[in-house]
Formats: sequence, C-alpha cells, structure tokens
Amino acid sequence: MGIDEAKKAASIKAVEMISDGMCVGLGTGSTVRFFVEGLVQRCLEGLKITAAASSDRTYAQALEGGIPLISDFKRFDITVDGADEIDGQKRMIKGGGGALLREKILASSSDQMVVIVDEHKCVNSLGRAKLPIEIARFGYLATASKLDLPGEFRMCEDNLYETDNGNYIFDAYLDSPVEDPQDMHLQLITIPGVLETGFFFNLNVTCIVGYEDGRVETL
Ligand code: 5RP
Repeated sequence: MGIDEAKKAASIKAVEMISDGMCVGLGTGSTVRFFVEGLVQRCLEGLKITAAASSDRTYAQALEGGIPLISDFKRFDITVDGADEIDGQKRMIKGGGGALLREKILASSSDQMVVIVDEHKCVNSLGRAKLPIEIARFGYLATASKLDLPGEFRMCEDNLYETDNGNYIFDAYLDSPVEDPQDMHLQLITIPGVLETGFFFNLNVTCIVGYEDGRVETL
C-alpha cells in the first residue's frame, strides 16, 4: 500500500457519490485522474451524467473515456477535485497542477464540492505548500512586484509555465502558518493583473481522505 492506493481509495468513494442525471465538475491532478478513471467505468456501465473539466488534461481523459462533456454551464450538482492542503475548517490551497482559476469557477458554481486527498494533504493550518497565484501575462513582472511575497514564476523547462488560460503562475512561499488566509486572498485579488489565488474557502465541502493502509474517512 502506498500513496497511490490512498488516492485511489478516496477516488473510489467519490465515484460512488455520482448518480444518474448529475452535472459533474471535474477537477485536475493525479488524484482526480483516478476519479475520472472510475467515472469512465461507471459511464460504460450505463451511468448518465454530463460533466465539464477544469483543465485540458482532464478534458482529454474524460473525452477519451466517453464522458459527455459540456462547456456552457451554469450550475453543477457536484464538483470533485483534489487539493494541495486542506485544514480543519476545510480551507484549502490548490493549484499545484496549475488549474486553479477554472477549478475555482467550477467549485464556486457547485452545490457540493467533494475534495479527494491522501492523508498527507491534511494540515492543522495552511501555509506549508506554495500558494499559486495566476497572473495575466501583460505586465507580469510589475504585478509580481506588487505581491510583496517571496516566490518564483513557475517554469516549464526553460520557459514560463503557461496555464490553459494563457496566463502565468507565481508560486509564493508563505509564512507557515498563514494567520488569515481570507484576508491574504482579499489583499492579493485586488492587485490589477492578479486573476486568482489558490486559496479556496466558503464552499460546501465534503472531504474524503484516503490513507496509505487503505482506510477512507469522510469529513
Ligand atoms: C490542480 C490542483 C490539484 O487538485 C492539486 O494540486 C492536487 O493534485 P494531486 O491530486 O496531484 O496531488 O489544485 O490545480
């Protein structure tokens, strides 16, 4: 048993929460990959759903598996996504996979967000993980200087990493623990050029934690 088994165990539980007629938001990441695998299997067995994906990667996997995908949506019954960190109040840092902007659009448009994580993502307080901040390309150095945070632009080999939306990501190093994530988010999001931060909160979250010994806990 290892970390992949923990991720799979959480994913299997989330797949069981999907039922006929649901409109499902699909997150991004290695844990969600297992979830989409399971969902594809259930669709092959006759499950009738529609879904939208938070990244080109997830879109490609879902499309290949035959999940009916939509791009014009208003509301989801459920969004299933991973997280880089989640605390006891179900506040999160997300965006390790670079899909934070679309992930937040899906999560904030969903009646319920199911977060699937392995045990190592559960923290007492946020801040150990880097905070991804999506930044418009135009004037990106000027915008980054206004963040007033240590960190670096995410790279893809020798180039700046580009999100599916054509923007850049600044990965900020935080003081751990972050005293007030909400306040920090509000300060950052008002800087012109900052498009989204990886702080997620005020969502109707059910968290499914998979453990390396195969146990699953729903919080
Ligand atoms: C992508 C995300 C992911 O959900 C997060 O990085 C967790 O990924 P993984 O399941 O691979 O650990 O926010 O933008």
